[in-house]
Amino acid sequence: MFDLPIVTPISDNSSLFESISNNIVDKGYSISPYALPKDLTTLLLEHITKLTKENYARAGIGRAKEHAISDFIRTDEVSWITGNSEASCAWIKWTTSLQNYLNRRLFLGLFSFESHYSHYTAGDFYKKHKDAFKGGENRVLSVVVYLNQNWSAADGGELVIYENQLSAAPIVDNRVAVVRPSLGTIVVFLSEEFPHEVLPAKRDRYSIAGWFHLNNSITNKAEPLS
Ligand code: OGA
Ligand code: MN
Repeated sequence: MFDLPIVTPISDNSSLFESISNNIVDKGYSISPYALPKDLTTLLLEHITKLTKENYARAGIGRAKEHAISDFIRTDEVSWITGNSEASCAWIKWTTSLQNYLNRRLFLGLFSFESHYSHYTAGDFYKKHKDAFKGGENRVLSVVVYLNQNWSAADGGELVIYENQLSAAPIVDNRVAVVRPSLGTIVVFLSEEFPHEVLPAKRDRYSIAGWFHLNNSITNKAEPLS
C-alpha cells in the first residue's frame, strides 16, 4: 500500500460564478448561502477581529461634496479596503476573478472595484436605499458578503431586498428577498435596480460591501463621441 498524494485544495470558483452569472441574467440579483471559499472566509474572519475602532469611520451617504453623516439613514461604521493585508488582498483577488468571469460571460464592462468592511453594533441599521441611480455615479453591480458565525433568526440584522417600483404602485409587499447575514453568504445585485435595507440586529454584525464600476472616463462623456 502507498499513501495517496496530499492534494492542496484549490478553490475553484467556476460553478459559483456561473450560478451568480445565471441569477443576474434571470432576476438581476443572486443569493448564494455559505458560498464564499472557506480559505478566504477564514482569512477575512481573522482579519476583522484585528480591526480596531481606529480602523473604522462613521459611514456616510453620498459622495465628495454631498457626503453627509445621517443618524436617520445609517448608523454603521466602515473601513475602506485598500489591500494592505493578506486577507484584503485575497478578497480583492476573488472579486477580480468574479469581475473577469462576469465580463466574459455577460459583457458587463466592469472596470474597477471599491469595497469596505462594515460593522453594525447591536441596534445599528441602514435604511432603504439604492447603491446607485441611473445617470448618476457609475456603480453597476453591488456585492455583499457576511462574516458572522452562528447567526440565528433571533439575531435579526437581515438584508431586505425590494423590487424597484414607483411608490404609488398598488403592490403591498414588494420584498424580493430577506437574507440572514450568515458566514460566507454572498449577495450580488444590479446597483440601480434594487432598493435594500439592513434591519437592526441584536448583536455585532459584520459584512463587506463592494461595487463594480464602469469606466468613468467613457461613461461620463456628455457629448456623443465623434
Ligand atoms: C451597503 C449595504 C448591506 C449589508 O453598505 O450599501 O447595503 O447587508 N450593505 O451589509
Ligand atoms: Mn447598499
